[in-house]
Amino acid sequence: MKEKIVLHDKTFVPFISNEEIEKAIDELAARMNAEFKGCEDVPVLLCVLNGAILFTAELMKRLDFPVELMSMKLSSYTGTHTSGEVKTVMGLTGNVKDRMVIIVEDIVDTGNTIVKIKEILKDAGAKDSKVCTLLLKPEVYKQEYRLDYVGKSIPNAFIVGFGLDYDELGRNLPDIYVLGQ
Ligand code: IMP
Repeated sequence: MKEKIVLHDKTFVPFISNEEIEKAIDELAARMNAEFKGCEDVPVLLCVLNGAILFTAELMKRLDFPVELMSMKLSSYTGTHTSGEVKTVMGLTGNVKDRMVIIVEDIVDTGNTIVKIKEILKDAGAKDSKVCTLLLKPEVYKQEYRLDYVGKSIPNAFIVGFGLDYDELGRNLPDIYVLGQ
């Protein structure tokens, strides 16, 4: 891992190594493989763009049951803070009517995005949905929805890397870095 990363006007320092991220994904995939083993319906893996793109790819190649991939793009963050309003930048790429959907998120913070996706899926007639997030900020998340699969809980800090960005930069970093002092 690099000692520090500079993106735009801010400096970030090492937080979670790629090795640790991969271990968390191995564990999530093992749980999902056990729970979806022999499942008759083919679930939809819903990648929430852009942040979850690397996580979805790493998770998906570890799943040993049939899955279909769909995506959608939502946005709420500007800079290092949430605007509180979740905008649909691109809607669902497929038909989820009567399907079981596994929502794949990079990080759950306030949970506003999850609430919005659950609403969209309900309106689109999905049979059921589960949430799989690589990271969770439990101090911030106060919504009622159960988060079915959580890779790691982290403190309320702003992070970048492994898909997560600061104003669109940093997504390509294999490790995760946190905003320095
Ligand atoms: P929520 O709707 O507040 O739960 O926020 C979810 C979305 O905000 C995530 O999918 C990320 O795109 C973004 N986000 C939340 N926390 C961070 C962070 O620490 N760094 C970068 N993006 C974040």
